[in-house]
Amino acid sequence: MDGRVVFVGAGPGAADLLTFRAAKAIAEADVVIWAASLVHEDVLQHASADAEIVDSARLPMEGVLPYYERAAAEGLTVARIHSGDPALWGALQEQLDRCHELGLATEIIPGVSSFSAVAAAAGRELTIPEVAQSVILTRLGGGKTPMPPGEEVREFARHGTTMALFLSAARSRQLQEELLEGGYPPGTPCVVAYQCTWPEELIVSCRLDELADTVRAHKLWKHTLVLVGPALEAGGTRSHLYHPGHFHGHRRAEPGARKVLRGG
Ligand SMILES: C[S@@+](CC[C@H](N)C(=O)[O-])C[C@H]1O[C@@H](n2cnc3c(N)ncnc32)[C@H](O)[C@@H]1O
Repeated sequence: MDGRVVFVGAGPGAADLLTFRAAKAIAEADVVIWAASLVHEDVLQHASADAEIVDSARLPMEGVLPYYERAAAEGLTVARIHSGDPALWGALQEQLDRCHELGLATEIIPGVSSFSAVAAAAGRELTIPEVAQSVILTRLGGGKTPMPPGEEVREFARHGTTMALFLSAARSRQLQEELLEGGYPPGTPCVVAYQCTWPEELIVSCRLDELADTVRAHKLWKHTLVLVGPALEAGGTRSHLYHPGHFHGHRRAEPGARKVLRGG
C-alpha cells in the first residue's frame, strides 16, 4: 500500500469533540503524531494499541519529516493531529508541500476550531442580526511571526464586528490598546477563554478596558483565546431568514408576516 498522511483536526481539547471521521483516521493510523503542548492526551484514546505514538511538542518541523519519509518508504499511514482546525495556524501548508514532494497521498480532516468552542462555552452566537455579521479570526503581530501589512489588530478593529484573537494573550496590554485604538468603545464585551473544553477550562467575561488586567490576574499567556465585539451581549434583533415573513425554496411566507417584514 502507498504511504499517506492524514492531517486530523482534533478540536479544542475534549476527546469527544472530534468528528467521527477524525476518530476513524486516528484509529486506522500506523503512526500517530500529536503535540502534547496543544492537544489533550485523551485524543489518543482513539489510536490503535499497535500504533506508534510520537509527541511532536519538542520537535521542529525537521523532526517530524523523517516520519513522513518513512511513511513514503514503508507504505505507512500517518495521522498528524492538529489542535482545533488544521487550516488555522497549524503550519499545515509546509507539511503538505513536503508530503507532495515525497509522493505521499494526503487528506485533511477539519476540526472544531477553538473560537467555535469558546463561543459555545460562553453561550453566545457570534453573528447577531443588525449588530455583527462577520467574524474576524486573527492574532496580534509583534511576536515571532510578523503580520502582513494591513493585518494589524488595530486595522481589523475598525470594522467593529466580532473578532476572535488567537495566540495573543501573552501581550494582553498591546491587545487591549490596539482594539481600543481601532475604535471599539471601552465597554465592549470580551470573553477570555483558557484551555476551553479541557478539565482546567476557565471562561471569564469582562469589558474591553479590563481585558489586560483580567488576563494578567489569571496569569494567562498561552492556550488562551479572546473574543471581542458587541455581539457578545447584544440581543433582541431577529434573523430575517427564520422570520415567518421570509420565503425560500422550502418554505412559503405568511402574508401578514411578510407585510411586517417589508415594513408595510
Ligand atoms: C497554534 S494556534 C492553533 C489554533 C487551532 N488550529 C484552532 O483552530 O483552534 C493555538 C492558539 O489557538 C487558541 N486555542 C487553541 N485551543 C484552545 C483552547 N482549547 N482554549 C483556548 N484557546 C485555544 C489559542 O489562542 C492558542 O494560542
